[in-house]
Amino acid sequence: MQKEALRDAAKLPSIRSLVRAVDFEGRSLHSINDLTNDQIYALFELARSLEPFHRSSVDLLRGSVMVTLFFQPSTRTRMSFETAMHRLGGAVVTEANPLVSSSAAKEESLADTMRTISKYANVIVLRHPDDVAAREGASYAEAPVINGGWGDWEHPTQALLDLYTLWRTHGSVEGAKVVVATPDMVHARTGHSMAYGLARLGAEVTLASRRDYRAPEEVIEGLRRVEGAKVREVFDLDQDGFNDLISEVDLVYLPGCSAPKGEAAEEFKKMMDEYYVRLETLEKVRESEGRIIRVTHTLPRRPGEMDLRIDDTPHQQYFEAITYSVAIRMALVAAIVGA
Ligand code: CP
Repeated sequence: MQKEALRDAAKLPSIRSLVRAVDFEGRSLHSINDLTNDQIYALFELARSLEPFHRSSVDLLRGSVMVTLFFQPSTRTRMSFETAMHRLGGAVVTEANPLVSSSAAKEESLADTMRTISKYANVIVLRHPDDVAAREGASYAEAPVINGGWGDWEHPTQALLDLYTLWRTHGSVEGAKVVVATPDMVHARTGHSMAYGLARLGAEVTLASRRDYRAPEEVIEGLRRVEGAKVREVFDLDQDGFNDLISEVDLVYLPGCSAPKGEAAEEFKKMMDEYYVRLETLEKVRESEGRIIRVTHTLPRRPGEMDLRIDDTPHQQYFEAITYSVAIRMALVAAIVGA
């Protein structure tokens, strides 16, 4: 035990130098585009050095506090951030239901809430249904604010963890062929962040959606501005067209989106059927070419949305991503708080 502790302590100086190399101390992360490509790769290197501690701990942030403030439900984002902070030796204050149990229930403004909690926190993770309100509220915080999913706009740390997972499993993001597929790219905040990240790191990206629900103009414009970006859009594929498309790629990225309720739910379900990834499609390529097409979904998934047989095959990447999410969020939090 003592030997292990000594070995881990010996690693700390090099981990600290990797933290400094990210050069992001005191900064907020609202968009994936707040990070340069060099900073993303520096985070990857730092995350890899932190992987041995993702189920134990490393004493980098003792005395620091993270506040998680989630105005929308979450399992993965909130818990993996909180796990990451605990693994780094820091403490966590959680507000998972602010409209019931915080003074937001007494109509306190988000500005005052952020002002207040930033007096306690070294870093705040905020999830909010309205990206404009979230940005405005975050501007009042005196501590760095991480976007944990804002409206339909962006979910940058989901993209970061999915890019990291691709880097670790595929070996490189550059040159990887990825399809980002959902009938509704308008409401797919993880799809927006991931498309930026993939394009900027040199992947070949196809955005597959319904034409009337294509990615917002802001995202398309942003992608056009990425030098050398290899991005195309394809619309209104039927199931055969979708099968042909995914047979060509290394990764199928299913960003999910907010499913409508009530009458619109049935129509939406029909649209989802066109983007259903069948295990048979993946197996055909594996048998004929010996190539593994990986599939990831940002989760949660709805019943009937995915072929659950993929779960126990080498094509499954969504649960691997959850494992990697802790190390990359440890890296991000350490870089922001400063170890
Ligand atoms: N992927 C994701 O954001 O999941 P949660 O909603 O559970 O945080």
